[in-house]
Amino acid sequence: MQMNTLAGKVALVTGSGRGIGRSVGLKLASVGAHVVVNDLDEEPARAVVAEIREAGGMAAACAGSVTDDDFAERFVRTAVENYGGIDVIINNAGYTWDNVIQKMSDEQWHAIIDCHLTAPFRILRAAYPVIKEAATADAAAGRSVNRKIVNISSVSAGGNPGQINYSAAKASVIGLTKTLAKEWGRLKVNVNAVAYGHIETRLTQPVDGEVKTVNIEGREIRVGISSQIVEQSKSMIPLGRPGTPDEAAGAVYMFCIPESDYVSGQLLVCGGGIGSV
Ligand SMILES: NC(=O)c1ccc[n+]([C@@H]2O[C@H](COP(=O)([O-])OP(=O)(O)OC[C@H]3O[C@@H](n4cnc5c(N)ncnc54)[C@H](O)[C@@H]3O)[C@@H](O)[C@H]2O)c1
Repeated sequence: MQMNTLAGKVALVTGSGRGIGRSVGLKLASVGAHVVVNDLDEEPARAVVAEIREAGGMAAACAGSVTDDDFAERFVRTAVENYGGIDVIINNAGYTWDNVIQKMSDEQWHAIIDCHLTAPFRILRAAYPVIKEAATADAAAGRSVNRKIVNISSVSAGGNPGQINYSAAKASVIGLTKTLAKEWGRLKVNVNAVAYGHIETRLTQPVDGEVKTVNIEGREIRVGISSQIVEQSKSMIPLGRPGTPDEAAGAVYMFCIPESDYVSGQLLVCGGGIGSV
């Protein structure tokens, strides 16, 4: 039997048109959350909204890049106008744009820092008035309600050659998480992070010889990992295989449920047994 653990909770998930974010959106909706689905690409965002609705859930789309100056306000407004508040925010949207330091341009550096670090900061800052007002109303009414933030990091935060921009952004998101857990504890907001190892998505698809790219904000960005690296990576994973997007969503879900109401400021590595960041 499916339990409605998050019945009526309003959950905002960035980058939820594909991959891990999509699985998170579907999972949260399946347990009763009303989901605001964001993606850079409108079509996949709308497809996830349709999938949630067809399954009997509730969802609204807020397409566009998390790096747009007006995005954070628009995202928060979509949640408030459609569902009346904010209970859960998952900062997931992202991609990689790799190079070794001597070949990395300022453009490449800033694009990745903007997407993985500045965008979550702006979204959380924009959500503050809504969360503060709700927390004040809950306290006045004697209700005990926890709200949940989950920021997506990576084991690359511990250092990965060729990813100086990405590893810096993903490490910084852990600092952001730990600080906000301390600032927002008084508002009963749990702020945690999940660092993924190797999850099978568009980002990590095996490529051999051919160059695969995706268009991110007008730039053709290479995606995929050579089969040889995929095999090497598998041999270093204690569970012996990469994770699926649904398994990745499970780690986020754990931080969203009432059973984790006393867990905050933590980093969970979801990597099939890979150690710490
Ligand atoms: N797949 C892995 O092995 C892995 C490992 C560690 C961390 N991560 C992180 O997990 C998150 C999700 O990645 P994924 O593997 O599901 O990739 P994915 O490419 O399958 O999905 C990411 C989604 O984010 C969207 N997106 C990208 N930039 C955006 C932007 N500026 N604004 C709004 N949406 C945007 C994309 O359009 C895409 O639909 C990312 O933050 C990624 O860095 C993934």
